[in-house]
Amino acid sequence: MNRTKSIVVASLLVGLGLTACNSGGMRRNPGKVYAPDMTYSRAYDAYTYNPNFEDSLTSRKPVAGTVAMGHELPDHLKEGDTLAYKSYNTALRFSESDLKEGKRIFDIYCGICHGQKLDGNGPLYNDGNGKFAAAPANLLGPNYLNMPVGQMYAAIKYGKNKMGSYASQLDIKQRWMIIAYIKKVQSENNGAAFTMGTGTPATTDTSAKAADTTAVAKH
Ligand code: HEC
Repeated sequence: MNRTKSIVVASLLVGLGLTACNSGGMRRNPGKVYAPDMTYSRAYDAYTYNPNFEDSLTSRKPVAGTVAMGHELPDHLKEGDTLAYKSYNTALRFSESDLKEGKRIFDIYCGICHGQKLDGNGPLYNDGNGKFAAAPANLLGPNYLNMPVGQMYAAIKYGKNKMGSYASQLDIKQRWMIIAYIKKVQSENNGAAFTMGTGTPATTDTSAKAADTTAVAKH
């Protein structure tokens, strides 16, 4: 009996000792791998070295001149592409309830800086009381009153200087609803007449329309 006891105690001590040794250092080796195909990716991981390309980058840019499905224009962030947005428009039309929704999401995402009155004086800025580093655009001011909708779109999609991109928060239709809302308010404050309302004929290419209306993903 005594002997069994001491064997049990001894093996417990050995076990404890082994565990103690193990828990100290960093264990980088996973040991035996049951299903190597699942543990080790056969495909190149996004940020790993890739010997198949001269520049060794695994993540490739889209082929020049192509537009990803559901996107409207190429995603290359070159100056030329950003300028191309100036003439970009949407064939979507916006009803009263769209404009109401546009106001709702403007107040959530943009009003904090641009102000619910669109005067560039939202609570995050408030006449520059040291809160936000840059003055948000006064969307009712002369520089912005007649800004092309495509340029506004570019600001939302890519951001503009200190203003960040809102591409991941707002899908394509939401971006346009916000722009329509801004344009509507601008038209009531000496801006050009509002032409994005129901019933106005579409003025742009149909590819833009197709991309706009079918897009469900956020990008
Ligand atoms: C964190 C503050 C902030 C938020 C939030 C913000 N903006 Fe801005 N926005 C700015 C600033 C600052 C500028 C001025 C950028 C410049 O010209 O240097 C600006 C500029 C703009 C412009 C002018 C772009 C141009 O080409 O001159 C538009 C249009 C605009 N914002 C729309 C929006 C919309 C729509 C939203 C909501 C989706 C939004 N902003 C959210 C800070 C903000």
